[in-house]
Amino acid sequence: MLSKEDNERICRVGPNTPMGNVFRRFWLPVCTSAQLPEADCDPLRVRLVGENLVAFRDSTGAVGLVQENCPHRGASLALGRVEDNGIRCLYHGWKFGRDGTLQDAPNCSMRAIKSTVRARAYPVREEGGLVWAYLGPKEKQPPFTRYAFMDAPEPNRTVIRINVNANYLQLVEGGFDSSHVGILHSNIARPGWMNATFTPNPDKDNPAVLAVEDNDPELELSETDFGFYYAAFRTDRRSGDAQLNVRVVPFIMPSTRIIPAPTTLYTVFETPADDEHTSTFIVIHGKAPVDRAKNIALLGLDDPKVYSERDCMYRATWDDRFGQDRQRLQESWSGLNGIEQEDAAMSLSMGPIIDRSQEHLVPADRAVVALRKMLLRSAKNVEQGGDPVAMPGDVTDVGAPDTFIASSARTTWQELSPGHWKNAESANA
Ligand code: FES
Ligand SMILES: [Fe+2]
Repeated sequence: MLSKEDNERICRVGPNTPMGNVFRRFWLPVCTSAQLPEADCDPLRVRLVGENLVAFRDSTGAVGLVQENCPHRGASLALGRVEDNGIRCLYHGWKFGRDGTLQDAPNCSMRAIKSTVRARAYPVREEGGLVWAYLGPKEKQPPFTRYAFMDAPEPNRTVIRINVNANYLQLVEGGFDSSHVGILHSNIARPGWMNATFTPNPDKDNPAVLAVEDNDPELELSETDFGFYYAAFRTDRRSGDAQLNVRVVPFIMPSTRIIPAPTTLYTVFETPADDEHTSTFIVIHGKAPVDRAKNIALLGLDDPKVYSERDCMYRATWDDRFGQDRQRLQESWSGLNGIEQEDAAMSLSMGPIIDRSQEHLVPADRAVVALRKMLLRSAKNVEQGGDPVAMPGDVTDVGAPDTFIASSARTTWQELSPGHWKNAESANA
């Protein structure tokens, strides 16, 4: 559990909050490249760690990210004209470049105006089908973090954005909670659960497929230079307990996880829009072309009642029990369709920010506890003028092995993942 004070501290991400300042020390995904499909296309409103911004692709094809409200008198630049290498406010025609420079002010003949007024603008990168920005202090700007999916050929990668009306931590914790996979996602993880006959799911694309049935995995954790890895060990009863299934998942600061599916990796970013809204970016990549439509369906996002690619909003609410069909509970564990429907329903059902002082944690929650500690330690460090406890640099070699090892070789799980280890330090420290 967390004290009410620590819960506030870890969940609040707006300007000048401790966690907001932690997020501002990292490159964050802002939107998908597909949301800005071509030069001079429609601009996009972006809310990021409590700040209202507008992203636009200028005439050269480069993306800019500037404050949403025009520095003149505050009209939204998201209604503006994107033209001639800038974004022009409709109201009085002030035009800004992607670096925030005032390029034109047709209602003002004072020459000095162009050198005295600037729109707040942030450094932007575009890689791996995502637009990234750094919102922190200039002198603290870290090197750009590279992930394996950035090196995948275009057909072997797909990016999905989902805007969920819940605090980021509920979504991050959902992703680091190995024990829920075999329970909440029973339909996928444990086909045959309704008559207690486990049959491994042959679907090679689904990250909720489990190789064995064991709903009480034991967890081990160890810190790395990017965050930590945890290993979830599941007993393989069919092998007479001679071998263990081990599923290794990295937590990459400040809010990223990589989840294995049999033939792909799901790299998932939870970017806070503000305290009660989060943009989830899922990047799926593999060695072969990725079937986007199939992945959208297995997430349950092919239902227009709950999700639309037009605005990426996840729409299910209590109004219809998040889409739950209770008539189907005999043959469907959740009465929901697909893993994102199930995950989002759990996070949304808690309300926008859950009070963690009322929890009862068990050993299966060790990874959740560790990530909270890492975030709170980072908040404290940053408040005292220091750095987050881990800063990812190049993580292109970080994956999420899901494999079998001999039960006697359990202590060798770290060998499944190369490099990045911190010596003899526990993620629980
Ligand atoms: S408010 Fe934007 S130009 Fe006047
Ligand atoms: Fe899940």
